[in-house]
Amino acid sequence: MEDIDSFLFKFKGYYFLRPGLDIGFLETLNDFEIREDDVFIVTYPKSGTIWFQQILNLIYFDEHRKSTENLETILRVPYFQYPDQNTDFVKRPSPRLFTTHLPYYLVPSGLKNKKAKIIYVYRNPKDIMCSYFHFSKKMPLPAATTIEEFMKLFLEGKVLGSLWFDHIKGWYEHKSLFNIEFMMYEELKKDLRGSILKICKFLGKELSDEDMDTVVSQAMFENMKLDPRANYDNILKDQFGIQEKGHFLRKGTIGDWKNYMTVEQNERFDKIFQKNMKDFPLKFIWDMN
Ligand code: A3P
Repeated sequence: MEDIDSFLFKFKGYYFLRPGLDIGFLETLNDFEIREDDVFIVTYPKSGTIWFQQILNLIYFDEHRKSTENLETILRVPYFQYPDQNTDFVKRPSPRLFTTHLPYYLVPSGLKNKKAKIIYVYRNPKDIMCSYFHFSKKMPLPAATTIEEFMKLFLEGKVLGSLWFDHIKGWYEHKSLFNIEFMMYEELKKDLRGSILKICKFLGKELSDEDMDTVVSQAMFENMKLDPRANYDNILKDQFGIQEKGHFLRKGTIGDWKNYMTVEQNERFDKIFQKNMKDFPLKFIWDMN
């Protein structure tokens, strides 16, 4: 197993990715000025973050929908906790769109005025774990050679994003502080158009039927995979020298965990899930294919 400390940095009880981290910025997160029309996608890693970046780009930007521009989705919906040198968040025109994996207690306190909007995306943690297992082998992240090893890291929260249970429970249990909509990955898989309509309603955006058709079509896995603006392949190549494609858009399915976890691992996972999520009110409908 790789040394966690060379990849991750713990700040206020939460694991961040060490490369590219600006500790000075983290110290100022609480006071970062929030605008009324800011929108945040909040996810635990591997829950479909890149999918929502594409959906928000398609909803908000005509140029993206019509493919008259060539900007990568991440540039329009950048990661909040990793401001790179080219992204001055203060100078960004409104509405500013952001992505973050932050836990509820580390986001700017201005989000608690309930004006800016937050979309929290969640997914079956077993599928997250399997997605993460594959992903971490390719990225500068704590990696494991077997799913058993990775399951241990995941269930101890020794991964970027820390413990999944804490992340989702923290956000859900404090939802009354925020203007927040919870969206489930599996729900989008089941009904993409209905889910996008729900997102539009929450964001106060109205699209024509024709535009909605385009959003739905370009948010589909197969189409996103072919869209160089929406799959990070170029970014991985430029920033990490990773030539191989498809690390973010790997399979995009429900229940891939069944191909990797043994019956015993599944039962052990279920027990830990029950213990942590007992009495949690959000309904999970994971296995709907
Ligand atoms: P898999 O590894 O299971 O395929 P994140 O952006 O948070 O890292 O999430 C990546 C996961 O979301 C990957 O899961 C990826 O395939 C899936 N995903 C991304 N876009 C998707 C889409 N349009 N439809 C379904 N799944 C998608």
